[in-house]
Amino acid sequence: MKRIGVLTSGGDCSGMNACIRAVVRKAVYEGIEVVGIRRGFAGLMEGDSCPLNAHSVSGIIYQGGTILGTARAEGFLAEEGQRKASDTVRKLGIEGLIVIGGDGSFRGAYNLNKKWQIPTTGIPATIDNDIAGSDLTIGFVTALNTALEAIDKLRDTATAHNRLFIVEVMGRTSGYIALWAGLAGGAEEILIPEMKTDLDEVCRKLEEGRTRGKTSSIIVVAEGDEAGGAFEIGKKIREKIGYEVRVAVLGHLQRGGSPTVLDRILATRLGADAVDVLKRGDGGKMVGLIANQVEIFPLEHAWREKKEIDLDLYQLSQIMAI
Ligand code: F6P
Repeated sequence: MKRIGVLTSGGDCSGMNACIRAVVRKAVYEGIEVVGIRRGFAGLMEGDSCPLNAHSVSGIIYQGGTILGTARAEGFLAEEGQRKASDTVRKLGIEGLIVIGGDGSFRGAYNLNKKWQIPTTGIPATIDNDIAGSDLTIGFVTALNTALEAIDKLRDTATAHNRLFIVEVMGRTSGYIALWAGLAGGAEEILIPEMKTDLDEVCRKLEEGRTRGKTSSIIVVAEGDEAGGAFEIGKKIREKIGYEVRVAVLGHLQRGGSPTVLDRILATRLGADAVDVLKRGDGGKMVGLIANQVEIFPLEHAWREKKEIDLDLYQLSQIMAI
């Protein structure tokens, strides 16, 4: 194998740069050239590329975002878009492509492999941590730390004013960020799409807490929860029990920032192993971390298997909130 390509796709997350660096440096070590594709599959369709070498990825391990840029490329779903992308791959002389992104990006990589015979390897990178085949996705832990820092600060003001705060975190349809950040931040309630939300019960518990002398309450809600967004939930709680409620929607703050040590190491391990997988001629695979070991799965594992939330952790959060 002489040359491979690498791209980042979908929502950016911290650790993508560390992963690009690992792919490039491992490939260089193996005597393989690397071409960077800008703006994910959008750039692949347009032939937007740049050569990458060990030097071009220096000084990026600690940076959030992605030096290659990223995009949600709708056009890539269509046959025509994929044909353009496969033309680019052949023109650039790329013998394998590494796709760093979430499950939507993995579907793109799967199509390129299945329909256009381009060997691809997926590396799970999304703050949502919603990809089966990896206990952790790149960017999740950094996003958690950002959310946690916000929750801790909100606790200070919530206690000072004896208020209820509702903190909305990202995660799309997954409750991972809400559950982990909520548990770590000592939230009184954690509302996630994986569990039924009963606002009457939430209000009952809030009142019970107040009767016991609680001076502040924090509800962490995942953006995909059935009860709605933080503002809607806040309005309903105010109407039901007359609490003074304040809302904080953390939004895209959770996506940026310097990656944590765990994200840098995860990105480095998965990036280096993805090169090995391609070098062996294994196309249509993803690499993931299971019980601290790098494992390889078919790309479709990412959407055919559902990554379940840890219900024991959820139960524990309920016990901790008494
Ligand atoms: O998948 C990552 C994510 O940040 C989700 O948590 C969120 O729902 C979505 O992307 C937001 O997407 P965009 O940046 O396109 O608004």
